Amino acid sequence: MTTTAETSTSTTERLRATAAELVAGGRGILAADESPGTMSRRLEGVGVEPTEEHRRTYRELLVTTEGLADGITGVILSDETLRQHLADGRPFPAALADAGMHPGVKVDTGTGTLDGGDEDETLTQGLDGLAERVAEYVVLGATFAKWRAVLHLGAGRPSPRALEANADALARYARVCQDGGLVPVVEPEILAAGGHRLEQCAAATARSLATLARALRDAGVDPAGMVLKPNMVTAGEGSRQPAGPDEVARATVDVLRATMPLDLAGVAFLSGGQSSAVAAANLAAIRDRGGPWPLTFSFGRALVSPALDAWRGDPARVGAGQAALRDEVDRVAP
Ligand code: 13P
Repeated sequence: MTTTAETSTSTTERLRATAAELVAGGRGILAADESPGTMSRRLEGVGVEPTEEHRRTYRELLVTTEGLADGITGVILSDETLRQHLADGRPFPAALADAGMHPGVKVDTGTGTLDGGDEDETLTQGLDGLAERVAEYVVLGATFAKWRAVLHLGAGRPSPRALEANADALARYARVCQDGGLVPVVEPEILAAGGHRLEQCAAATARSLATLARALRDAGVDPAGMVLKPNMVTAGEGSRQPAGPDEVARATVDVLRATMPLDLAGVAFLSGGQSSAVAAANLAAIRDRGGPWPLTFSFGRALVSPALDAWRGDPARVGAGQAALRDEVDRVAP
């Protein structure tokens, strides 16, 4: 008979092994988990009617790309895609597992208002019923999860209240996932919108990650069984002093080293609206600088935008879309 203590020890070990696999060998994570609303807008942007079937077809194009697992360890899906099937009848999680990649799922339900805060700041929602949903996702084949907190940078932003509330939600989400058998990918994103300098992004990211590290510790989250998905430290999109890869790398690694525990499984950066070329150059410089943890990517737009543009809903252009995805993966997972 297995005791509770033995069960939880083996779960911890399994989560640590999965977390390590997600960031190993220079490979990284593909974020294809846009909500149905966001995905529909992106489809409309390339002239494709935003139906459930078209969202499914597009995700099938992505996950069936030949050789994808050479650069990708896991794919984050939305709740909708996790429940869909490929044309050959296999559920998406099974198809990913067959191809040697971990199936992941976005478990937050988007942003809502921050109680007591101004309207420009948000609190990510989704803790209600999360333990039950995690149990279902495990049955559906997921091995990891994602939750994204969104933080604005500006005058007095992010506010201490937004930092605390979002860090607390991220930590509670991470603990529920680990208790239920999923590796949490923990994403506190400082948005790149605005004209801020790199130093301002560094200061805000440092405050955010320090608050998060404390919340994770207080919630009893095992750092070796999770992946951190932060923004890179960059100048704002509208800044008159854009920063190059070396500056980005120095600031990013310094902030991470100052705030994150040494036994974290790894760091997988979001692309945050950077072009794929810029995101790849920044990631390469970050890796050159190095850290005590594996440093890799968990990119959405930087990997999939060229594929969506190449495909544009044309069945005859599935191969072109897949070639575009492969090119982008090759840039960041050489
Ligand atoms: P981007 O790389 O496009 O920022 O997306 C990553 C992601 O998963 C956002 O939640």
